[in-house]
Amino acid sequence: MGYPHEPHPKETLILSKHFGDAGARSYDGWVKCGGYQALKRALAMDPADVIEIVKESGLRGRGGAGFPTGLKWSFMPKERRKPHYLCCNADESEPGTFKDREIMRWTPHALIEGCAIAQHAIQAEVCYIYIRGEFTEPIAIMQAALDEAYREGVLGGNAMGTNRRIDMYIHRGAGAYICGEETALMNSIEGRRGNPRIRPPFPAQQGVFGMPTTINNVETLVSVLPVLNEGAEWYKDLSLGNPKSTGTKLFSVCGHVRKPGNYEVTMGFPLGELVNDLCGGMRDGRTLKACIPGGSSVPILNREETEACLLDYEGCVEQGTMLGSGGVIVFDDSADMVYQIMRLARFYAHESCAQCTQCREGTAWTVRILERILRGEGEMKDLDLLLDLSEQMTGKTICVLSDSCAAPIVSGIKKFRDEFEAYITGAKQPVAALT
Ligand SMILES: Cc1cc2nc3c(=O)[nH]c(=O)nc-3n(C[C@H](O)[C@H](O)[C@H](O)COP(=O)(O)O)c2cc1C
Repeated sequence: MGYPHEPHPKETLILSKHFGDAGARSYDGWVKCGGYQALKRALAMDPADVIEIVKESGLRGRGGAGFPTGLKWSFMPKERRKPHYLCCNADESEPGTFKDREIMRWTPHALIEGCAIAQHAIQAEVCYIYIRGEFTEPIAIMQAALDEAYREGVLGGNAMGTNRRIDMYIHRGAGAYICGEETALMNSIEGRRGNPRIRPPFPAQQGVFGMPTTINNVETLVSVLPVLNEGAEWYKDLSLGNPKSTGTKLFSVCGHVRKPGNYEVTMGFPLGELVNDLCGGMRDGRTLKACIPGGSSVPILNREETEACLLDYEGCVEQGTMLGSGGVIVFDDSADMVYQIMRLARFYAHESCAQCTQCREGTAWTVRILERILRGEGEMKDLDLLLDLSEQMTGKTICVLSDSCAAPIVSGIKKFRDEFEAYITGAKQPVAALT
């Protein structure tokens, strides 16, 4: 789905209100849209009060883990004895997720404004916006907007006329999924190999360049604007009744739906309605088979679970999965789940940084087993081996990349075991060429 497009009446356009409006990209255009008012408000407030409002709003991180944003900001030291840093995570490499790049493409000043508010709240003069290297267009748009923001006095030594310094720099990643993991991202900014770091120390104590650091996702930072403009209560009231999951969320929907694209809905919106109504349902003659609601790293839902799932943090957990980054991958009845799961496992094996044995060996071994099942050379005991391997890959490593590889495998074997068995028993023809 390209832009501009007609929004669906059930969408709640707040973050994506100006998607498709090229006029909103410039500084003047953004100001005409009411831009930089939230930053003005924030700069007139004590940093602790900004943190309090964000805490009150219930906003939780949109990068995957759903950690409360205000609480994360409150972990930063109150006194600024050393430089503090903000890192904006714009790496967006999770398969199925394509929302942050659209925020940067259409409303770059919204991200600059969100970063500047966070910088004020955590007393960080410098923000690094870490953007996936392949995002050439969003990088060019963000750089042009940053140059404008400096020219207009939003950023620099006298930011917004407050005599305070707010600087922002774009750091281009090189396209490694692992660099989206917050501690790998910090290593990458420092010019090191993007390997995750052992915690503690946590970033708020010792982050980039050894200094107190906060890392937030693009969508999280942009979501701070309506909180400041409209108030914490207004933001909280946007959710469909669950006080633990507030505001709106962008869902990137891809796969076997008629109208893939980004959809902004309130927290608690039914996943079945998103897929079957907003996205136009399945292609002709096809029925819904499965769905991964939170980017490729979360457990797969079957049809019934998809139709019962409410899109918020708790609603997804209730169905045995996670909201993650909001990348919704939809499969119709033509999908070969064994093949799809193998392709996901290949991704994780390729992207493992190889520091931890369970991840380096486990992801690669998982791929070899899945490939031999697809070639018709598997045995029934391979399914137990896959489950055992997945257990060894969960909760035992520095970061959760290998957990992410295991999640679709464990849920896939549980829910689509007959498809695995069909390859093993010969009831299904082996895949001729494993691409
Ligand atoms: C392997 C891996 C990849 C990740 N990739 C991203 C990413 O591309 N973008 C992102 O915002 N968070 C990503 N995360 C989550 C970050 O580590 C971190 O939790 C997030 O940026 C925090 O921001 P938030 O609190 O605003 O959600 C990834 C985590 C892991 C383990």
